[in-house]
Amino acid sequence: VQTSARHLLSLINDLLDLAKIEAGKISLDLEDVNCRDLITSVSATVAPLAAAKGLAFDVVLPEGDVVLHTDRRALSQIVLNLASNAIKFTERGGISVVVAHGDGGRGAALQVRDTGVGIDAGDQAKLFEPFLQLEGARRREGSGLGLHLSQKLAALLGGRIEISSEPGKGSCFTVRFEDT
Ligand SMILES: Nc1ncnc2c1ncn2[C@@H]1O[C@H](COP(=O)(O)OP(=O)(O)OP(=O)(O)O)[C@@H](O)[C@H]1O
Ligand SMILES: [Mg+2]
Repeated sequence: VQTSARHLLSLINDLLDLAKIEAGKISLDLEDVNCRDLITSVSATVAPLAAAKGLAFDVVLPEGDVVLHTDRRALSQIVLNLASNAIKFTERGGISVVVAHGDGGRGAALQVRDTGVGIDAGDQAKLFEPFLQLEGARRREGSGLGLHLSQKLAALLGGRIEISSEPGKGSCFTVRFEDT
């Protein structure tokens, strides 16, 4: 019952966030956010899900602080979406969450890597469409909104999401912020 309630709540929250973005009513709460703290707290939420599937889960932090002037809740939600996807679509191996300074020391790159099913080159561009779930994903829980919402939130924060993936080997999603 609790699991179902959590899923419903997260679906409702995704839908509410999307509706707010579409209506231009989302308000960002900008502050200096230390990516180390943010990633540590998101990891604490998802690490048990990885452990329950017997997957490795590690966090790689750079030297020095990576600080972004951004909305903490929105950025957490993006990373949470990417990390739950990584766990959902991986059966063997593990997940790494990597924080890095941006190119030239400005901005930041937050990366979620998995050793899961991977995504065909032809499918990669479609992933951000709402309600899209690739063949094979439809048996799993979800509604195909996570990436659509994450991409919208990233754009609102001045960032973008890049994908690199090889079918059968795994995927890597990078949220990149140029100079916030
Ligand atoms: N790390 C990944 N590895 C392989 N396929 C992925 C990965 N992340 C996303 N996908 C594919 O992209 C689709 C869309 O992802 P998205 O997060 O938007 O939806 P979902 O996870 O299926 O549902 P929801 O996020 O709404 O719970 C997934 O259904 C899956 O087919
Ligand atoms: Mg998802």
